Amino acid sequence: MTLVRTAVLLAEGRRGGYAVGAFNVIGLEHAQAIAEAAAAERSPAILQLSENAVRYHLDGLEVVAAALRALAQRHAVPLGLHLDHATSVTLCARAIAAGFGSVMIDAAALEFEANAAAAARVVGLAHPAGVGVEAELGVVGGKGGPVDAVSSRTDPALAREFVARTGIDALAVAVGTSHRMAGGAAELDLGLLRALAREVPVPLVLHGASGVADAQLREAIAAGIAKVNVATQLNLAFTAALRRELAADPEAVDPRRSLGAAREAVTDVVRRYLRLLGSAGRA
Ligand code: CO
Ligand code: CO
Repeated sequence: MTLVRTAVLLAEGRRGGYAVGAFNVIGLEHAQAIAEAAAAERSPAILQLSENAVRYHLDGLEVVAAALRALAQRHAVPLGLHLDHATSVTLCARAIAAGFGSVMIDAAALEFEANAAAAARVVGLAHPAGVGVEAELGVVGGKGGPVDAVSSRTDPALAREFVARTGIDALAVAVGTSHRMAGGAAELDLGLLRALAREVPVPLVLHGASGVADAQLREAIAAGIAKVNVATQLNLAFTAALRRELAADPEAVDPRRSLGAAREAVTDVVRRYLRLLGSAGRA
């Protein structure tokens, strides 16, 4: 125990009125920090691995998946395993085979028809294996572009059609966030979010939550966000701790001291998010 399917985690969150945090894993230190934080807060959490992180691991998706599955099994709290921002259907298929509970096919940069076709194709592979699919409609900016890249907005009627045609299990929406942002500068369109929650029958996902102020994040959850993706705040804390430790001891050789401090810094950030999302104490 306990690797739990993403759909189950999100459904329980919706029933309980809280959002489930999905935290991006880079290496084992990040993954352990997320699991330890979830255990300490008695909270569900999702470990998510992006296509970029798979590339960083020398294309070792199966290697990382084996480690994350083993890690989840060491903890009593429910942990999910999700593939984040895959642009390749092949990578989604590998994640499905490697035991992920859900995969995100990111074809949002394509036209509606091509985006829907890619999502439907992944659903066809994932659902027979009991794996959920997240897709994105409207573009959450900041990936590969400048931080302030203009994000488009998700149209509620199109979103409803997209979900009906593809059979996806969760929808990432563009409502004012951007990736690689920090500091609470994002202005969320909560009216649009409420409209999307009314029109779309599956859980909604907020990407780029690192740039959202606490109060806005709480409002977004109340307005219908079920899964909150956090990456940048984890990496800010990790890198700052690493830099601090290395600067404090320029003769250091053993990396465990600095990496250990970085892991603890990430644990603290994840714990804070689990309380903010309302999922602390629910597991
Ligand atoms: Co532990
Ligand atoms: Co994202």
